[in-house]
Amino acid sequence: MEFQARSVPKPSRSIDSASVWQSINEDVMLPRYQIDKTYDWNYTHSPDVVTGLDIPQVKGEWTFCGKRLDSPLGIAAGPLLNGRWVRYYASLGFDLVTYKTVRSRARECYPLPNLQPVLTGPVNGTETNVPTASEMLGSWAVSFGMPSREPDVWRKDVEETREQLPKGKLLNVSVVGTDQPGFTLEDLAADYALCAKWAVESGADTVEANLSCPNVSTCDGQLYQQPEAAGLVAAIIREQIGDTPLIIKVGHTTEPAAVEALLKALSPAVNACAMTNSVAVRVRNPESGEELFDGEKRGICGSACRDASLLQTQLFVDAVKRLNLAVEIVGVGGIETAQHVNDYLNQGASIVQLATAAMVDPEVGVNIRRSL
Ligand SMILES: Cc1cc2nc3c(=O)[nH]c(=O)nc-3n(C[C@H](O)[C@H](O)[C@H](O)COP(=O)(O)O)c2cc1C
Repeated sequence: MEFQARSVPKPSRSIDSASVWQSINEDVMLPRYQIDKTYDWNYTHSPDVVTGLDIPQVKGEWTFCGKRLDSPLGIAAGPLLNGRWVRYYASLGFDLVTYKTVRSRARECYPLPNLQPVLTGPVNGTETNVPTASEMLGSWAVSFGMPSREPDVWRKDVEETREQLPKGKLLNVSVVGTDQPGFTLEDLAADYALCAKWAVESGADTVEANLSCPNVSTCDGQLYQQPEAAGLVAAIIREQIGDTPLIIKVGHTTEPAAVEALLKALSPAVNACAMTNSVAVRVRNPESGEELFDGEKRGICGSACRDASLLQTQLFVDAVKRLNLAVEIVGVGGIETAQHVNDYLNQGASIVQLATAAMVDPEVGVNIRRSL
């Protein structure tokens, strides 16, 4: 079923959590993720494909991992909970669309709030905490815990999604291994690889392995900080996916030596690294003084993580050049405008992915394409 652009009264352009619609022009409005509702509610209330929109062409030839794309614009792992969300954002001018991280078994989402607006300027991870905000001002703390449907559900959904996506769009499936009591690193790697293999069998054009989640305390959330372990996981995934491009999602780092070590370990098996999976900081209620999320850190996403992500992109691009590696870099973090896209591309990223800005304003891809 398709969402036909229709005439409805234009609402205010406020981005408060209660409003359902986002305007695309004077009289057409688009649905978006509802942050005051659960992950399950948003999963089942997925929007229809939009038709009848003018999607501006982006000049130039764009390729990623040897595959052609219509633009360098992608959606990061997160906003696209299932195939309907994937197809919706593909219809809004995004060309590398990432299916939110899936697992080898079902996993519940963390309780609300999953998206807590925060009031902060740029963060770099040294902050003691950041205060909550009562409305979305560009940045939020993300707390989902990487929920997943049963493999039977997501595998079928990925297959149907790829069949329905037009040419020029790449379907990227994000996977994560699920740590179990008694698991060795090899067991965890095999679990990552199983999900990656299933994703490829279902038609994924590229696979993204998430080696960083600031919101889970198990070792699958921190692998990017252990080069040898990360290299092993990547190598075992590679054995299962043939020559399908493999992207590794990494978390925040500022250490050139750590970046070099990680790239050296990953490069035999991977085609690209995507960064950054937010900057982890604690979140405090400024009125009560209490910390949210039991005092654990959460990933701060949106404009607050842009400077840190850009710096990290530069670190990785420089190291790739120095080491003469064939690894592409995907820029992620705080992208809201064509200028931000160009900042990442000028830094040496091949393409970019958006999460927060695209959730707040589904029109952002169209607006960026107009100015690119
Ligand atoms: C709602 C939401 C859910 C996310 N879920 C995932 C996830 O499942 N896997 C992952 O690798 N990153 C996840 N992320 C992180 C994003 O992929 C991205 O790295 C981060 O949000 C920074 O980009 P942004 O500033 O454009 O939001 C999520 C982010 C958001 C906002």
